[in-house]
Amino acid sequence: MPERIFIGVAWPYANGPLHMGHIAGCYLAADIFARYHRMKGNEVLMVSGSDAHGTPITIRADQEGVDPQVVLDRYHAQFLDTWQRLGISFDLFTTTHTENHQRVVQGIFQRLLEQDYIYTDTMLLAHCAGCNRFLPDRYVEGTCPHCSNQRARGDQCDDCGHTLDPIELVNPYCSICGQTPEFRDSEHFFLRLSAFQEPLLEWIGDKQHWRPNVANSTRSFLQGGLKDRAITRDLTWGVPIPLEGSDSTKYHDKRIYVWFEAVIGYLSAAVEWAQRSGNADAWEDFWKPDPISGESARSYYFIGKDNIPFHSIIWPAMLMGYGELNLPYDVPANEFLSLESRKFSTSQNWAVWVPDYLDRYDPDPLRYLLSINMPETGDTDFTWSEFVRRNNDELVATYGNLVNRVLRFTYRNFDGQVPADPAPAGEAEAALLESTKQAMADVDDSLAHTRFRAGVSRAFSLAQDCNRYLDSRAPWQAIKTDRADAALSLTTATKALNCLKVMLAPYLPFTSQKLHEFLGFDGDVTTEPWDADALASAIKPGNPLRNPAPLYQKLDDAVAEQEVEQLGVTA
Ligand code: MF3
Ligand code: ZN
Repeated sequence: MPERIFIGVAWPYANGPLHMGHIAGCYLAADIFARYHRMKGNEVLMVSGSDAHGTPITIRADQEGVDPQVVLDRYHAQFLDTWQRLGISFDLFTTTHTENHQRVVQGIFQRLLEQDYIYTDTMLLAHCAGCNRFLPDRYVEGTCPHCSNQRARGDQCDDCGHTLDPIELVNPYCSICGQTPEFRDSEHFFLRLSAFQEPLLEWIGDKQHWRPNVANSTRSFLQGGLKDRAITRDLTWGVPIPLEGSDSTKYHDKRIYVWFEAVIGYLSAAVEWAQRSGNADAWEDFWKPDPISGESARSYYFIGKDNIPFHSIIWPAMLMGYGELNLPYDVPANEFLSLESRKFSTSQNWAVWVPDYLDRYDPDPLRYLLSINMPETGDTDFTWSEFVRRNNDELVATYGNLVNRVLRFTYRNFDGQVPADPAPAGEAEAALLESTKQAMADVDDSLAHTRFRAGVSRAFSLAQDCNRYLDSRAPWQAIKTDRADAALSLTTATKALNCLKVMLAPYLPFTSQKLHEFLGFDGDVTTEPWDADALASAIKPGNPLRNPAPLYQKLDDAVAEQEVEQLGVTA
């Protein structure tokens, strides 16, 4: 029975290009998972989009002296291009700045308000007389009460890491004009998060399949006791508050808080996807239990660890309050990737920007490195020297050369075909095919359980088995004396390659497609069955092959040095 899998991926702020840390944080894992499930015949809906609102966008726009829309459009277009070039296969990547999103957000806001899960109250907010406006938390700077850093921001101190409220800052000042703000009452809407303390505790009770880091941080957040949260801000860029009539001017200069509305993007994107697909109700298949079987799609949220409580607590609480809709099944958050032992930093240009990477190198080597080194259970580090080493030793030497020596030798010596008359298979052949089958089952199990590192290293251990098999069977020797024996070992290795192309397709989609074609097949590798027996028997004597080209390029060691030199250089 095919399953339905909903995959939500964190919405990147459209305020700058993506760097490798973003890819390692969630996009690659989500894509591997989506590709895997599609190949298994499951129905997948993978969505995300540009997070268009909030201070990250307005700060950028203010710096450039342009409208936030200009910033949004620029980076949204760049994101779409990056997904295409890196092979991140969204079913829809939209933005939070659409009419559809606004309608869905306002609908949820209104229902929660009716059910008294949203209420109004006043709060003290920083108001700058010089700028004649309420200041977003980040626009207030001052001295950190914990570590005395004089340039702490109103939302957090970057030196000591404490999260802050602007009112806690000593000697606060407006980051735009430098004046001292005064704290004034402002009316806002609050989400009654406290009402969900018990339901959430009960809900996470059966989430034994969650990664330990996600389960632990969710539990400790809940143990701290949930406090109601302001979900509107004094801003004019964002989703308006859906209250009309006599009140409409009162809320004119307020917007729904970016975090409250961005997570609703998972739902609104599904609605938009359904509309575009021509079946406007299709989103319900991924969001509501099946009316006949009662089965629900499983929803996975791929995010970085800094977003855990928003997805494991706040979004589920909103969904509980709203009713009818599926709660998250899993939130497989990754930890952080660092770069040459340092935190990624946009301001210090300590980053590898994905568009730049893709101008210089192929997508699959990056996908490989970030898979084998994914920060799944702890932080990991990206170094250019490891990139070059693994590219050369693993992609080129272990896997690419395997493909090349088997297929080129066969192509040249057997008329461009799978050999017609192989000798009968012996023990070594049975052993290789058995280990292929086992590897395929192991990779399957790893992928199903979001263990991406384990999956890719298991596939590569099969490639090594295959190399050992070939070394011991030495078809390049055998061909001189026993053509049928050479035919047998080459065919057996080719069968293993036909399985490897499938196991690795979620990780290495571009080169798996090439390998699929070298093996003589047409069409899309993604439609191949996840079935070792079927894949082995598809390699039939006399099948035409294609003359292979190398799948991967060896990189010079100097590449690593040159790349490291570029880091931290600001234009
Ligand atoms: N744009 C935010 C971030 O990158 C939030 C992303 S997840 C969302 O941290 F679902 F809330 F949008
Ligand atoms: Zn000011």
